[in-house]
Amino acid sequence: MFQSAVLTISDKGSQGLRVDEAGPKVAAFLKENGYEVIYTGILPDEQEMIEAEMRRLAEEKVTLIVTTGGTGFSKRDVTPEACQNVCTRMIPGFGEAMRLASSKITDKAWLSRANAGILDESIIITLPGSPKAAVENLEAVIKPLRHGIEILLGLDSECAVKEPEK
Ligand code: MTE
Repeated sequence: MFQSAVLTISDKGSQGLRVDEAGPKVAAFLKENGYEVIYTGILPDEQEMIEAEMRRLAEEKVTLIVTTGGTGFSKRDVTPEACQNVCTRMIPGFGEAMRLASSKITDKAWLSRANAGILDESIIITLPGSPKAAVENLEAVIKPLRHGIEILLGLDSECAVKEPEK
């Protein structure tokens, strides 16, 4: 079972002014999909703090780091920038898939700047902040994500779909 961590990025949540519903929803969704959630935390929309936490979790070899919040247009929204800054390789397809799937639910999906990338042996995925949006976005990539992790960790190198024997 792969290890995961969920970081809620919210100024209000980090000050105890808002109950965090998105983090628990994302954690529950990850567990349903076979991931162990070893850490959950709440951080303000401070890029340096978000980056430090992403780096710390990657150093601890947490395979999947998922954030929720801070992907929109507000001046304080900097989670995608933190992800871009710490990752050595980006995964553009995940942002594309999340927005495409979400746009079938709401055209506001295009306002999310959510992205994903690779830092050492960790994959970081940023999600929008509403609990519903966060799960809808993660759902869009949850299947290919597992194969991506297997390739990243060297557990699988075979991408080709095997032809049935004749
Ligand atoms: N994606 C889905 N699936 N469902 C939603 O309701 N809301 C959008 C978008 N993505 C939404 C969604 C809205 S209204 C915004 S502003 C952006 O995500 C960014 O959200 P954030 O600022 O909370 O990260």
